[in-house]
Amino acid sequence: MTKSFDVAVIGAGPGGYVAAIRCAQLGLNTVCIDEWKNEQGVASLGGTCLNVGCIPSKALLESSENYARAAHKFIDHGIHLEGLSMDVSVMIARKNKIVKAFTGGIAMLFKKNKVTSLHGRGTLLKQENGLWKIQVKNNSEVEEIQAEYIIIATGSTPRQLPFIEVDNHRILDNSGALALTEVPKRLGVIGAGVIGLEMGSVWRRLGSEVTVLEAQPNFLMAADEHIAKEAQKIFTRELGLIIQTGVKIKSIQVEEQQIVVDYADAKADPQKLEVDKLIVAIGRVPNTVGLATDEIGLKINERGYIEVDEHCCTSLSKVYAVGDVVRGPMLAHKASEEGVAVAEMIASTKQGHANESAKVNLDIIPWVIYTSPEIAWVGKTEQELKSAGIAYRAGQFPFMANGRARALGETSGFVKVLADADTDRILGIHMIGPYVSEMIAEAVVAMEFAASSEDIARIIHAHPSLSEVLHEAALAVDKRALHI
Ligand code: FAD
Ligand code: NAI
Repeated sequence: MTKSFDVAVIGAGPGGYVAAIRCAQLGLNTVCIDEWKNEQGVASLGGTCLNVGCIPSKALLESSENYARAAHKFIDHGIHLEGLSMDVSVMIARKNKIVKAFTGGIAMLFKKNKVTSLHGRGTLLKQENGLWKIQVKNNSEVEEIQAEYIIIATGSTPRQLPFIEVDNHRILDNSGALALTEVPKRLGVIGAGVIGLEMGSVWRRLGSEVTVLEAQPNFLMAADEHIAKEAQKIFTRELGLIIQTGVKIKSIQVEEQQIVVDYADAKADPQKLEVDKLIVAIGRVPNTVGLATDEIGLKINERGYIEVDEHCCTSLSKVYAVGDVVRGPMLAHKASEEGVAVAEMIASTKQGHANESAKVNLDIIPWVIYTSPEIAWVGKTEQELKSAGIAYRAGQFPFMANGRARALGETSGFVKVLADADTDRILGIHMIGPYVSEMIAEAVVAMEFAASSEDIARIIHAHPSLSEVLHEAALAVDKRALHI
């Protein structure tokens, strides 16, 4: 007999597995179908984020940052180390252990919440008598199940350059960049986006000569331009990344001894980069291959994303889509929040009660880049406000003038608060500095509660703490910062 469910979730990344757990918590009989296999060919839940994304990258960033501190910063504390060395295999094994614990943890959470977990590729076949038929294919084993509601959370895969194939041995995407067994002497990175900067940082800290080639004319164009300028300065001068913007890649040759990238620089002059390994990190594309039969007419836009409205409803009845496969930033926390919102909407529809809150506010999503110093922001950038013609006031405060930052020996960077010139409502908060990945939470809460810069200026912040930099930046909006 065909197994039947209230909800079938396709994909067990942070969008899918969270949606499945929330559906089950709300009393819905839920199945989650996922096809991911790890390097050993074993099914592994958690999608990109847990297997080859957020978690492993942060593990390597932490290890390499510890090494860099020991090599360059401990001396300031009077700590002398001799014969410092890095065992890359131990670092990678630690990362693998963390990944295994978390992916295994999802299997346990599924069990605890009574989510049925099926391994294989899910394909949406058709809707019959109000039930969707889904094929689940695991090698030669094919099973058909049915469910009333569908949540698609199939995520994304790395965008490829047309003229070179990733082999994850010498030409690497994120998976290969997270699994190098030794520090490459010369590392090239195509794309100065989030992955390029995080992965470039890891291997640079461990001693690689890292050159980053970026197509855009300016560095980190998604960020506030002052933050981007500061970041470029620090990454170049302090970390030693070689960053070239405005380049056009012409060709890549994989030779026996090296990889040669031919490109035109910002002045259109021909250049050559010779490296031992090359990371290609030029963005990601939504994953919809083989997801649904053509006949059912799932609408996909010209950029490959599944079309959804603000409630994540697709063009098909009772079919929702969340996470990287739909519009909005490709971030794990955005995927998860959409998963929760959709689960709550399905439950309320099925159980016959209204749910007004099941919607994700795409305007207030924090971004964090886990470089050193870290970069974090929420809301509008200064350039966005200018181009929208919105009058604003800005307040900025440097970490250099903060006691805790001095004690940490991490004084680079600043916090900037942007507030509406008339109402003082916060429109954006931008940070570059130590642990701003944690500090950004206060900014997100403030913005969700429609706070003014004066609200933050009047709230008591612990002393000495890094959060005082946000406090002072809020005071600076009204030109009354105290410690500068
Ligand atoms: P995914 O995590 O991609 O999961 C989709 C799952 O669906 C996969 O397991 C896939 O195998 C499966 N699947 C696809 N098609 C089918 C099918 N037809 N049948 C069955 N299964 C299918 N984001 C952050 O917020 N913070 C970070 O620090 C961060 N770091 C990152 C670092 C790297 C190197 C990378 C690559 C990404 C990072 N991201 C980070 C982005 C984050 O990983 C994604 O935004 C997030 O994983 C998206 O979640 P998702 O559930 O939409 O999709
Ligand atoms: P990205 O979109 O962040 O950056 C890609 C960069 O490559 C851009 O700057 C783009 O201009 C450049 N580029 C594109 N084509 C190019 C070409 N032909 N030559 C040279 N440069 C080119 O994408 P990335 O770094 O691949 O990461 C994908 C997504 O994963 C991110 O956008 C983000 O959503 C997510 N992510 C999030 C992280 C976090 O939250 N800390 C960490 C890593 C990834």
